[in-house]
Amino acid sequence: MPDSEAAPPAAPVPAGAGARSGGSCRAAPRVTSLFTPSGDAAVTRGGRLLRSAPAGRSGRVYLVGSGPGNPELLTLRAYKLLQLADVVLHDHLVAPEIVAMARHGAQRIYVGKERSRHTLPQGEINQLMVRLAREGKRVLRLKGGDPFIFGRGGEEIETLAAAGIPFEIVPGVTAATGVAAYAGIPLTHRDYAQACIFVTGHLKDGTMNLDWPALARPHQTVVVYMGLLGLPVLCQQLVVHGLPAATPAAVVQQGTTPQQRAVCGTLETLPLLAFKAGLEPPTLIIVGEVVKLRAKLAWFSPHGTARTDGDEPAILTAG
Ligand SMILES: C[S@@+](CC[C@H](N)C(=O)[O-])C[C@H]1O[C@@H](n2cnc3c(N)ncnc32)[C@H](O)[C@@H]1O
Repeated sequence: MPDSEAAPPAAPVPAGAGARSGGSCRAAPRVTSLFTPSGDAAVTRGGRLLRSAPAGRSGRVYLVGSGPGNPELLTLRAYKLLQLADVVLHDHLVAPEIVAMARHGAQRIYVGKERSRHTLPQGEINQLMVRLAREGKRVLRLKGGDPFIFGRGGEEIETLAAAGIPFEIVPGVTAATGVAAYAGIPLTHRDYAQACIFVTGHLKDGTMNLDWPALARPHQTVVVYMGLLGLPVLCQQLVVHGLPAATPAAVVQQGTTPQQRAVCGTLETLPLLAFKAGLEPPTLIIVGEVVKLRAKLAWFSPHGTARTDGDEPAILTAG
């Protein structure tokens, strides 16, 4: 992933301010955060407490992950903030049931970004948050999954930090963990995978710019976000770079929801199986020996139609 979410350059940090030295985990003193370990709202600069945030109407932004689609997977913190926010800016993968949880009277603004259809360019979303916060609004920026996993959360926060807007980040269940759990595919397993890699399979000019030798290593699981269009390229490149063509792989559409569908096969068979099944985004691709476990562990079948076909590459539909 490009390092577009690096912290802004660090200014000297006062002794005792909690900065780590010598590593890459530097404190970023320009960041203004709402969080204190006691749970009290606070404003900090350079790791030092400046003042308690006014109890009244000081504007701020909450960057909140809404989870992978199933509203029940929303965090308690996210739910509480939905009851508090004046404005909710939401993306297209946020479940409508979650948007509907916003308090009565809250303004809801759709700023969703779908492939090749952006309602608002990213820069304008960033500026909108700054403007609303400066008007004294409590802005809840609601994003699918986790805001820091392929969600441009870092870019949005950088803008807020540069503008001196107080913010809080609320993690969400990312698609990889949520979808894998609901598909019955443990991402790591002592017998099959000791590592797990998340990558984006977004095609650029018809190609995927990925570190193929690193992805084709054995004993690991590769999870691909936004990879459906590039599935044939992905499977082919993994085999070219050394993974056996018989490596199990799956595509899961709308995981965690009643519309969940999963197609399981191998690197050799999966592109055709997925095409025949007519899968559509959002989908997550999981590659690795752990995919075999779905035959035993698939538990989520909202309509009772899950089939487990042993080791046969098969279309397994849960939902
Ligand atoms: C722009 S990324 C955002 C990821 C998000 N920030 C997260 O942490 O899950 C959107 C991609 O996440 C994956 N995704 C999100 N929700 C999903 C779901 N319920 N089922 C399958 N894939 C999903 C798809 O690959 C989709 O194209």
